Amino acid sequence: MKLLALSGSLRRTSYNTAAIQALKRLAPTSIEIVIGDISSLPLFNPDIENNDIPTVQALKSNLAQASGLIIASPEYAHGISGPMKNALDWLVSGVEFPYKPIMLVNTSPRASHALNALIEVITTMSGDIIESANVTVPLLSSELDADGIVENREISAVLSNGLKEFCQRIEASIP
Ligand SMILES: Cc1cc2nc3c(=O)[nH]c(=O)nc-3n(C[C@H](O)[C@H](O)[C@H](O)COP(=O)(O)O)c2cc1C
Repeated sequence: MKLLALSGSLRRTSYNTAAIQALKRLAPTSIEIVIGDISSLPLFNPDIENNDIPTVQALKSNLAQASGLIIASPEYAHGISGPMKNALDWLVSGVEFPYKPIMLVNTSPRASHALNALIEVITTMSGDIIESANVTVPLLSSELDADGIVENREISAVLSNGLKEFCQRIEASIP
C-alpha cells in the first residue's frame, strides 16, 4: 500500500515534518509512505490552474497513486498554515482529492483551531477523514526529531497504532 504524507510546515526542524518522517520509518515494509513536497508550489491562482506546473503535477500524481493521505500541519494564529492551505487550494478542483482516505496528525495538543479548520476544509473538499486513525502527539517543545520520535516508545506507539488503524480501514473499504 502506498500513502502520501504532507507536512504543513516548511521549518527545517519542524515537528510536523519529523512526525511524518517517523511514521515512514515506523511503517511496516508492506506500506510505503511517500513524503510530498509542498514548499515549491506557486501561490494558488485560478488563472494559472490549468497551466502545466511541474510541482502541482507532482503533487496531484503522488496523490492519485496513493491509497490514502496523511496530513501533519501546524497552527498559525489559530489557522491552517499558509503552505498547507495553499496545497489544498491546488487540489480543490481536481479529481485526486475527493473520497481519498485521510489521517490527521496533530503535533500540539493545545492547537485545536487549525485542526478544526483543517477538518472543515477537507470535508468541504470531500476528503474522507478516518477519525479513528487521527492522532495527537505532544511534540511541541519536545526537541524530538524523527529519530527521537521513533525511539520514544509512547509517541511511536500512538503513531504506529494510528497508521495501523488507517491502513486497516483503507483495506476494509477496498471491494
Ligand atoms: C507565526 C506563528 C503563529 C503561531 N500560532 C499558534 C497558535 O495560534 N496556536 C498554537 O497553538 N501555536 C501557534 N504557533 C506555534 C506553532 O504551531 C508550533 O511552533 C508548531 O510546532 C510549529 O510547527 P512545526 O514545528 O512543524 O514547524 C505559532 C507559531 C508561529 C511561528
